[in-house]
Amino acid sequence: MKIIHNLDLLRQSISLLRKSGQPIALVPTMGALHKGHLSLVREAQKMTPNVIVSIFVNPTQFGLNEDLENYPQQLEADAALLTSLNIPIIWAPQNASIYPKGFATSMQINGLGDNFCGAKRPGHFDGVILIVSKLFNQTGADIAFFGEKDYQQLTIIRQMALDLDFNIEIIGVPTVRSTQGLALSSRNSYLSEDELQNALALPQALQKAATEIQNGKNVQTALSDAENKMLQSGFQSIDYINLVNTKSFKILKKWDGQEARLLAAAFIGKTRLIDNFPVK
Ligand code: PAF
Repeated sequence: MKIIHNLDLLRQSISLLRKSGQPIALVPTMGALHKGHLSLVREAQKMTPNVIVSIFVNPTQFGLNEDLENYPQQLEADAALLTSLNIPIIWAPQNASIYPKGFATSMQINGLGDNFCGAKRPGHFDGVILIVSKLFNQTGADIAFFGEKDYQQLTIIRQMALDLDFNIEIIGVPTVRSTQGLALSSRNSYLSEDELQNALALPQALQKAATEIQNGKNVQTALSDAENKMLQSGFQSIDYINLVNTKSFKILKKWDGQEARLLAAAFIGKTRLIDNFPVK
């Protein structure tokens, strides 16, 4: 496994992989890897041995008062985890390989990025599509894997790839959870023992509401019950909790059988957690 920091070297190594005739798969990450990331890699390996994991904490997707400074950076530990999966390349670019001096381009996603995490974290998805499109160009990957935990991100990346004619297949991978149900996230490392315990109210409340809506409960009632349960269980505030149409991301006040997703973001202590469940 090569850990590559330089773009020319990356391109040379990928052209060697291309000789195998097998596709190139990309798993973009910001490091602090956990089992959720490893499941993306394993899914990728079902399709090709040529799996590249990128590790880059992308500054343009963090807002001014967000956790960029504190975001865990642990390349050695991440590399050790990936060694056992036998991937050929970790792409760990230096900042200058992504945003060289004089870099002047920005991107903007409209519509799909206006609500939910997009509204609460202005500019976040613009930074995400910028880095992801750069990673697509740098690697020339044929397939890329993203977790369903960031469902709005996944939807926006699919749209961006379509809009910009990227010749790449985007694959969404189901969320990996702890045995008690908490969605795995690098930000879980910020939580104290008590907060970790209280955070379980997020998946529990969402799953219950999803089942209730499927069984015909009024959507607004199911959502406010879920919100109350979370606030009673130690969440300080709820950023949003909504039922949305899976494709358009339009808010649904009623559910009449269409493919939908229940999305929420909420603060426990200073940590913002997100999660989602299907309603179908
Ligand atoms: O989901 C993430 O970890 C990041 O948003 C991504 C897709 C790697 C872009 O920095």
